[in-house]
Amino acid sequence: MQTERTAYPALRGRRILLGITGSIAAYKAAALCRLLKTAGAEVRVVMTPLAKQFITPLTMATLSKNPILVEFFDPENGAWHSHVSLGEWADCFLIAPATANTLAKMCAGIADNLLLTTYLSARCPVVVAPAMDLDMYAHAATQENLQALARRGVAIVEPAEGELASGLVGKGRMAEPEEIAAFLHTLFSQAPGNDAPERNPSEGSLGNSGSAPHASSAGPLLGKRFVVTAGATVEAIDPVRFISNRSTGKMGYAIAGELARRGAAVVLVSGPTALPTPAGVERRDVVSADEMFDAAVDAFAEADGAVMCAAVADYTPAEVSDVKIKKDNGELTLTLRRTRDIAAHLGARKGSRLLVGFALETDHEQSNAEAKLARKNFDFIVLNSLRDAGAGFGVDTNKVTFIDRGGRQELPLMAKTEVAAHIAQKIESLLK
Ligand code: CTP
Repeated sequence: MQTERTAYPALRGRRILLGITGSIAAYKAAALCRLLKTAGAEVRVVMTPLAKQFITPLTMATLSKNPILVEFFDPENGAWHSHVSLGEWADCFLIAPATANTLAKMCAGIADNLLLTTYLSARCPVVVAPAMDLDMYAHAATQENLQALARRGVAIVEPAEGELASGLVGKGRMAEPEEIAAFLHTLFSQAPGNDAPERNPSEGSLGNSGSAPHASSAGPLLGKRFVVTAGATVEAIDPVRFISNRSTGKMGYAIAGELARRGAAVVLVSGPTALPTPAGVERRDVVSADEMFDAAVDAFAEADGAVMCAAVADYTPAEVSDVKIKKDNGELTLTLRRTRDIAAHLGARKGSRLLVGFALETDHEQSNAEAKLARKNFDFIVLNSLRDAGAGFGVDTNKVTFIDRGGRQELPLMAKTEVAAHIAQKIESLLK
């Protein structure tokens, strides 16, 4: 119990509305509910009528310690279950498992059960954990629905590959309860004002809005579109080896999440990383610098600005061997070719759009950063030095200096999520 409590501390005191739909994976909702409760969250459960065939309301009521909601009104006493109040009560609406059917209805705005009406009126972040057979998941209809939902700010905990209820093996298994809990933990950790809201006991009833983190559909950057590049690129040498760098993507992911929370539509062009996609962000995965170039240029065509946070390889093997390179006794020389500079390319074409760059330096920090600001036509550049303790790769903190044509602003050491908030704030003021 103690282990679970400390595993997801950001869930303590959060109000999570757990939506369960009609999938065999509904049995995992029991473990998920228990995990959330043990982490100190308040849980209420809304089920679709079909979900009751897969897991009993009694089980979920016992685990969540709250009555289960399925119908628009209580069949016993006629009491009305307000979907608006449910949506207002929650700090997060988590639909796990989410079937292809429910995802399609969410996408189309169909409101034929309490879970769906709650979704349509929810103002809190919405997270879905899809669960279905591999072909249903891979179907263009499902994929397009998921993309549309992601564009509208719904966060998706991707299903895993594995054996499915059908006996087939493929992608479609709902993510494990621990992974979903960790996703919510990250979501709440990244929210501005990380702590769970203090609530007095009278706020416990449905109908009080509490202070939920804002959904990405409302905020000062509403209507703005941003591209964020994040993480390291990976340049193949042969099918086994590659060249990369130590970037983990944490800073870029924090920025993408922060911009989305302020209402922007965000495309996150990401190198390989284990980080969960921030709520409300559309993520496009790439591997190499060339792929990142294409994805970023494509997304920038419709954007109002971009934040270039990725550690893009400056060189890539001139030739990639199709087969594993075998060793021999002599030395091996690799010929590398220059990659294209994404930031410089966008900078030359940005017009009135906003472009923010990063510079990670080890020496001559100020002059190097100023040179990059000019060369890549950034509006401002975020300088961090590897010489500063607590700054750089893999850590959760950063110490940065903003440099623009008007001067420099040095910030103290702070969490990367806070740095992201400062960057978003500066973007907001420049857009005004
Ligand atoms: N950048 C980019 N595409 C590249 C290289 C860099 O978009 N191919 C962006 C980075 O995301 C960052 C900025 O340019 O915002 C500066 O990156 P950095 O690696 O510090 O600069 P380089 O131009 O590669 O210069 P150097 O390697 O000489 O430090």
